[in-house]
Amino acid sequence: MLAQVMPDNNLQGLHVLGRENNSSPHPKRLEGKIAIVTGGARGIGEATVRLFARHGAKVVIADVEDTLGAALANSLSSSVTFVHCDVSLEEDIENLISSTISRYGRLDILFNNAGVLGNQKKHKSILDFDADEFDDVMRVNVRGMALGIKHAARAMIPRGSGGSIISTASVAGVMGGLGPHAYTASKHAIVGLTKNAACELGRFGIRLNCISPFGVATPMLVNAWRSDDEEEDEQQVEKTEEFVRGLANLKGPTLRAKDIAEAALFLASDESKYVSGHNLVVDGGITTSRNCVSL
Ligand SMILES: NC(=O)c1ccc[n+]([C@@H]2O[C@H](COP(=O)([O-])OP(=O)(O)OC[C@H]3O[C@@H](n4cnc5c(N)ncnc54)[C@H](O)[C@@H]3O)[C@@H](O)[C@H]2O)c1
Repeated sequence: MLAQVMPDNNLQGLHVLGRENNSSPHPKRLEGKIAIVTGGARGIGEATVRLFARHGAKVVIADVEDTLGAALANSLSSSVTFVHCDVSLEEDIENLISSTISRYGRLDILFNNAGVLGNQKKHKSILDFDADEFDDVMRVNVRGMALGIKHAARAMIPRGSGGSIISTASVAGVMGGLGPHAYTASKHAIVGLTKNAACELGRFGIRLNCISPFGVATPMLVNAWRSDDEEEDEQQVEKTEEFVRGLANLKGPTLRAKDIAEAALFLASDESKYVSGHNLVVDGGITTSRNCVSL
């Protein structure tokens, strides 16, 4: 029926499309790429390390959690290694990038993901604003990501083959009311930094994007929302996921760390080759759906 009404050139297109859909030429979407994942020892970072490695990348986990990070690297293939790195220290970032270059000869992808929430409960009100805590949060979340961009770009530019730098922002970087004040300020800053650095580094073929997740039941969120210290972690994870599901506009799925890793995979891979300066919001519609008229 379709064949009778479509002109020949469209039919050809249909044929090509069909062929592409049936067998992807790149089942391993990061084959041969060298990637760094900061905050890769657990949570969203861990899920991304696993997914990047599965897609053929050589991955360097960078984290302050030495035991967790080394154990994760040891549990995966020899293409995953661990480097101790506090992202807020420039010497640690320099060491991370230079040791990656010494080991692999280049860097293609930086997932700037390490982050801290701050004390969700203690300094909830702006009237209790704690300047030292603000500095601590900004030091990791903003300074750390800016240092990552700086040293990754310095390593990528001389090679002349571009690169992809992805930073984890948050829904708290899109609108207010979704996190503590310092955290919200830091995540808005990451979105701005990403756009600005994308303006400058585009001429070198380096793409910069960020990802803004809604609530994922990682240790960061589970510990922040923990109401009962006695309760098992598993129960806390379930409660957290249920709470997030209740808030999301999109009903049905549960947001997991793997979903954020999939977004990072897209932005790291050549499938997003023309995407730069973008904030990929993964939030079940929470930031776009204040449903005032009950649609
Ligand atoms: N979980 C969520 O709901 C959620 C939502 C939006 C954004 N995020 C962001 O996602 C990123 C990952 O968070 P997560 O939920 O996986 O949290 P997590 O606490 O489970 O993992 C964070 C990782 O970062 C590491 N880290 C912290 N400070 C560091 C430093 N100075 N140097 C190096 N590593 C450091 C930690 O050791 C840990 O391994 C963060 O940037 C966070 O703000 C999380």
